[in-house]
Amino acid sequence: MTQDRQKFEKIISLCKRRGFVFPSSEIYGGFAAVYDYGPYGVELSNNIKSAWWKEMVQYREDIVGLDSAIFMHPKIWEASGHVKGFSDPLTECRKCNQRFRVDTLLDDAGVFADEKMSEDEINKIFDDNKEKIACPNCSAKDFARAEKFNLLVQSNLGNLTQDWTKDPTYLRGETCQGIYVNYKNVLNSSRVKIPFGIAQIGKAFRNEITARQFIFRTREFEQMEMQYFVHPSEEMDHYEKWRERRWKFYLDIGLKEENLKWHKHENLVFYAKEAYDIEYNFPFGFKELEGVHARGNYDLTQHSKFSKVELDYLDPVSGEKYIPHIVETSAGVARTFLAIISDAYTEEENEGEIRVVLKLPFKLSPIKVAVFPLLKNKPELVEKAKAIFDDLKLSLMCEFDDNGNVGKRYRRQDEIGTPFCVTIDFETLENDTVTIRDRDSMKQERIAIKELSNHLQQRVS
Ligand code: GAP
Repeated sequence: MTQDRQKFEKIISLCKRRGFVFPSSEIYGGFAAVYDYGPYGVELSNNIKSAWWKEMVQYREDIVGLDSAIFMHPKIWEASGHVKGFSDPLTECRKCNQRFRVDTLLDDAGVFADEKMSEDEINKIFDDNKEKIACPNCSAKDFARAEKFNLLVQSNLGNLTQDWTKDPTYLRGETCQGIYVNYKNVLNSSRVKIPFGIAQIGKAFRNEITARQFIFRTREFEQMEMQYFVHPSEEMDHYEKWRERRWKFYLDIGLKEENLKWHKHENLVFYAKEAYDIEYNFPFGFKELEGVHARGNYDLTQHSKFSKVELDYLDPVSGEKYIPHIVETSAGVARTFLAIISDAYTEEENEGEIRVVLKLPFKLSPIKVAVFPLLKNKPELVEKAKAIFDDLKLSLMCEFDDNGNVGKRYRRQDEIGTPFCVTIDFETLENDTVTIRDRDSMKQERIAIKELSNHLQQRVS
């Protein structure tokens, strides 16, 4: 096993063992490509979403938020092109009948292929390279012709007939469509003027063919998307600015710059002017974390055509009427989560043992402070520790832990990335001071209880 694979296995194991991520429906044998977030996972995930929302909505005067429904009128998915064109090339191993994405098989064999290629284009490359590609499941080299497989997830919502598959509704395949169809509502109900953005965080669903690599590619996932509406002549200027800002966001949330790179899309969809992905160096290599796209006026034009509602913009100063162009930034919560954990996962030698520590940026740590009474069977220590915990929890996400020896408790908090542990010992009872232990340096300092809350809040922020 390569070192990267080993690291990845350790991260997956830590995520389960320490309550970050669980396989879905585990007691029923699991449910492929769906994951649940445990007590620390939901905190980390919320902290990522909150950092994104602050950056994209709270700190900006030109961007407003939205929470549109998962279900929408099925025509939206026709207008967007998803019903016809939202597909991946699928093949089946003729020996074991397992199904795979052809572009992924080619990619693994070191051959470039793009999911946006036509069926014929991808089959040509697939045929030319068949000798290099073995089935990842049974090693046979006998695959069926690639066919495009639509990724939209269908449902019978609102359709009470037996044969609803002829007229399905869809679980949204991306959150941005909810933004496009609400563009006029936002314009008419708020004080935004072009250029402006609408941001949304929410679930999306895709029938991914091979969902591998843990939470990297799942069938149910969350997106953090922002659509920025601009004058056509200014699209590329805004696009460049958004590329810069989104790169900086990942540095601000603590990712190491050497683990990030840009990937330019070679095969653009016909309406796009330019598209770049920010890739992160996951333990399985550089892969897409976020897309930044210059989408032209395609989305609003399509929805205007299909809905027969005019979606143009009347400039209040110049009187010019036009369909705005859109710059999109589209990130995944789970991929950011995995990047953050991969970046933070550290093994260090400490007193002859390996210490596993998640060196998470403090603002993303699920628990900011753990509070320990030195001994669980000393009521006076427990009572004092509870009082401190009750005070700190009002301003910081805290955890009370009186299980096992303090060394074990430190190790557990290190593994979930808690920046500070506060211990209440016998000296506390004498002089109202406690020890604070720092996750990264492991140094301990004594501090008066009356200064504790301010001190910790300052350090965490
Ligand atoms: N609106 C544009 C759009 O949806 P995308 O490249 O298909 O573009 C954007 O998805 C982001 O959503 C990706 O960069 C990734 O972070 C996340 N994402 C897409 N599919 C995913 C999946 N199956 N599992 C987890 N995250 C996914």
